[in-house]
Amino acid sequence: MAKHKISLTINGAAHEAEVDSRLLLVHLIRENLRLTGTHVGCDTTHCGACTVIVDGQPVKSCTMLAVQANGAKIMTVEGLEQGGKLSAVQEGFTEKHALQCGFCTPGMMMTCTALLERNKKPSEQEIREAISGNLCRCTGYVNIVRAVQYAAEKLA
Ligand code: FES
Ligand code: FES
Repeated sequence: MAKHKISLTINGAAHEAEVDSRLLLVHLIRENLRLTGTHVGCDTTHCGACTVIVDGQPVKSCTMLAVQANGAKIMTVEGLEQGGKLSAVQEGFTEKHALQCGFCTPGMMMTCTALLERNKKPSEQEIREAISGNLCRCTGYVNIVRAVQYAAEKLA
């Protein structure tokens, strides 16, 4: 198996790694870097639990090879809180009770964070479209939409 040297930035910190060609980005994040807030649900690009932000775009990290992330700036759920302060999206999820079991929540919050970076005032329809690749078996999505609306108002 060929090995590749890669360097990338995760949550503001530079990392270098030597990885197999076949290593998935989610496994680099969880197993090599021990950032286990990024979850693995389906491993087949359906559930969105593994979503991280790669160069500003929400990406299902079970769908991307670690070598493809060479040179990228990545944010995981661990990067949302800054200096002990929750991000607006994290606060929204707390205030609006937008989770139950919490398994989908890290990926959901990364998708919502990327949405609010490209659209400061999304409509309900736009929020629902943005999270359509993130499956939640618990909440019914209503409170997730409210959480994003809360975060949008807070950031306005
Ligand atoms: S674990 Fe990546 S989409 Fe489900
Ligand atoms: S809160 Fe349980 S899957 Fe979303």
